[in-house]
Amino acid sequence: MGWAAVDVSVLDPVSPPAASIRDLAALVLVVIAGIFAVVEVLLIFAIVRFRHGRPEATGEPPQVYGSTPIEIAWTLAPTLVVFVLTLVILRTLWDVKVEAGPPTVSTESSHATVVGRQWWWEFRCDGFNTANELHVPASDVFERRPVYLDLLSADVCHSFWVPRLAGKTDLIPGRRNRMWFETAEPGEYYGQCAEFCGAQHAKMLLRVSVDAPDVYLRWLDNQRRPAVDDPAVTAGRQAFLARACVNCHRVRGTTADGTYAPDLTHLMSRATLAAGALANTRDNLRRWVADPQAVKPGCLMPAFGLDQRELDLIVDFLMTLR
Ligand code: CUA
Repeated sequence: MGWAAVDVSVLDPVSPPAASIRDLAALVLVVIAGIFAVVEVLLIFAIVRFRHGRPEATGEPPQVYGSTPIEIAWTLAPTLVVFVLTLVILRTLWDVKVEAGPPTVSTESSHATVVGRQWWWEFRCDGFNTANELHVPASDVFERRPVYLDLLSADVCHSFWVPRLAGKTDLIPGRRNRMWFETAEPGEYYGQCAEFCGAQHAKMLLRVSVDAPDVYLRWLDNQRRPAVDDPAVTAGRQAFLARACVNCHRVRGTTADGTYAPDLTHLMSRATLAAGALANTRDNLRRWVADPQAVKPGCLMPAFGLDQRELDLIVDFLMTLR
């Protein structure tokens, strides 16, 4: 994964809430730049013009008290500026609000619950759970396909932020926040946990794949299936199921039914491991299972001290979970 090539700019929105925030920021910037310019010009003028004082001046300058037109002008101007900015801010707040999202006609929306965890993202979708990589459908000219997210936390505060799709929304223990986005541009959108949440806060990558509708439906269909039961890796499956892996991980269709750690039913449909810490290849998977602490110090998955043979068996089994 080349981070250099990844666009996470707030200035390059592809979704209405993100665009609305960018437009507001641009407008505020223009207004305050204008005020700055006026103040600086007056200041510099005064400095240059009255550098040596007025040649004819003696003693104090004339004292002016309460010029009504001036008082009115400098009260009215800032009030007007604040009033206009308040209106546009209210409009942006309305745009990013979930209730403002649902278009009235011809809509096929998708919904997921996001649970922030130390240190990965759980996505609870309709009929299955997945981790760290969310797939959503792209809108097109025929159909708007907005995405609604409910945001929860299982431990501490996290923050969901994919800058090109929407503003930052916190995941707070004991509270349900909501957000929405919608885009007609298929692609990979990246984000990061944006609220310090402990040792591996920096390794909570967010990947949102905006797929063309047919690609999305294929993904959805695959995710809803139970795990592939490949007879070639029976030994590996048994080794996995005999270990404590099953206390935390779920593989639907087996006895592994833990919910504390990422659902592994379709592990190999994901491009990364450990919330983006590693590309999901066989070597990296082996490295991760052998010693998670070496990859992501402080993470909640322990090393099980597997011997090489058992490690290979388990990795072979995991590799079949497409
Ligand atoms: Cu989760 Cu920072």
